[in-house]
Amino acid sequence: MNDIKEKAVLLMADMEKTKDFFLQNYKKTESPVSIYTHLDADGLSSGAILGKALYNEHIPFQITVLKQLELNEIKKIARKVKEYHNLIIFSDFGSGQYLELSKNLKVNGLSIPYIILDHHLPQQIRDKSDEEIKDIYEETRPWHINPYFYGINGSIEVSGAGMCYYFAKALNVQNKKLASIALVGAIGDIQNKGENASFNGLNSLILKQALELEQVEIINDLNFSSIKPLNEAIAYSSSIKLAGLSGNPNKMLKFLLKLGVIMEKSDGQIKTLNDLSKGEKKKLTSALIEYATIKLDIEPSEIYKNLIINRYILKNEIVGSELHDLNEFSNLLNSCGRTNNGSLGIAIAMGDRRIAYQKAKDNLIKYKKSIMIALQWLNENKIIQQKEYIQFFDGKDMIKEIIVGTIASMLILDESSIIDINKPIFGYAKREEEAVYKVSGRAHQIIVDKGINLSEVIRKALEMSSLEVLGGGHPPAAGTKVPIDKINIFLENCNQIVKNQLEKEK
Ligand code: C5P
Ligand code: ZN
Repeated sequence: MNDIKEKAVLLMADMEKTKDFFLQNYKKTESPVSIYTHLDADGLSSGAILGKALYNEHIPFQITVLKQLELNEIKKIARKVKEYHNLIIFSDFGSGQYLELSKNLKVNGLSIPYIILDHHLPQQIRDKSDEEIKDIYEETRPWHINPYFYGINGSIEVSGAGMCYYFAKALNVQNKKLASIALVGAIGDIQNKGENASFNGLNSLILKQALELEQVEIINDLNFSSIKPLNEAIAYSSSIKLAGLSGNPNKMLKFLLKLGVIMEKSDGQIKTLNDLSKGEKKKLTSALIEYATIKLDIEPSEIYKNLIINRYILKNEIVGSELHDLNEFSNLLNSCGRTNNGSLGIAIAMGDRRIAYQKAKDNLIKYKKSIMIALQWLNENKIIQQKEYIQFFDGKDMIKEIIVGTIASMLILDESSIIDINKPIFGYAKREEEAVYKVSGRAHQIIVDKGINLSEVIRKALEMSSLEVLGGGHPPAAGTKVPIDKINIFLENCNQIVKNQLEKEK
């Protein structure tokens, strides 16, 4: 048995106990189960998996989508539970707040039952090698289950949706068919970081299940969006940069026409990658490799590595729809969450292909536009400021708090020329209803490999700035909120901690 399979067995054995705890407590309540989940694609996939699993067991439930499980939300939940005595599930968050949950979720001094299915670093844990993880495991089972308890890296080996999938499977083995939704969650959290966009760890076991059930097919394909007009998909690709063509869809269209590929479809639209025949794809691959090697002097193996990737296709979805490709599926869910339409995303992930899907498609267009406007504003106005070890931007009136994390992620993932990928970036935006900034930190893998851990940076900086708010996440992506008058000191503390992390690794 290989390492990950052994870890999966341990996790499943504990998941059985979590399930028993859940069912025993459910029998004692008379209210629907309350599911609280995160608003990103992984959180919405988590909610959908739990919704499906409880529905299959005839257990009534309600799902609430939250931007983050902040202290004021925990207090709100505590008030509600005192009145209704619901059994609660927290998915895709909860580990980073487990102490606050224990403190606050009490009725008459007695703890009320809830379970946490999460993959974030637990509260007060600095990184995956922290010995205290074992103590948390001992103290919090069976109601808290987290991959780090089993030596599984929650940042890349399993998502929140993956943890919910294992819980669903413990409830009923038939729920193995929710594997494809677990992969949507994993891809939403950019966990397919292995070679050629492959999955590692528990995610690879979930993928195996989805392949066995013939839900998913892996195709070797060009690394461009499969549903955007092809010239735009290549010109605006975040992974393939081709000086002279990137950023210029008109020039890209001419390049494609020169290849002899007919780019117009019978309805007058420009073809997408999905519309190309095998022969046309081959031609395009050779032409792009030739361009990169001859004109740009890039090693053929280097370009090939980025150009051809695994694409994960959902076999039961319509070719060319937003749901056919796992990546696009997760983008659609993310756009629902980031526009405060989380319930649409959950409905789609649970199988709705009618009203919710139609609404989400319209919504996606508006969402993409808001992202484009935000990026353009950042590009044209020199908004990004530098400190010695970090860079940061204030979203002002142009970037709302709900998308500030997405924008920071895009700048890092796209290796945007307006930022320095050797420094973490912190974006912040004013929250309407509180005198705080929402802060999102993101770091490129190359500095995570050098020892940068943003979850720790944010938690330590909060402490150093004497701020009693929750924060954290994963080494490459973490968040929090900071009172408006404390932002400068907080960022300066982040700067110092990043410096220390880099020096420690030297
Ligand atoms: O909010 P943002 O998108 O910046 O969060 C980045 C990551 O950090 C997410 O995985 C989120 O769940 C996590 N996070 C957290 N605790 C917070 C804020 C964010 O664990 N208080
Ligand atoms: Zn997640």
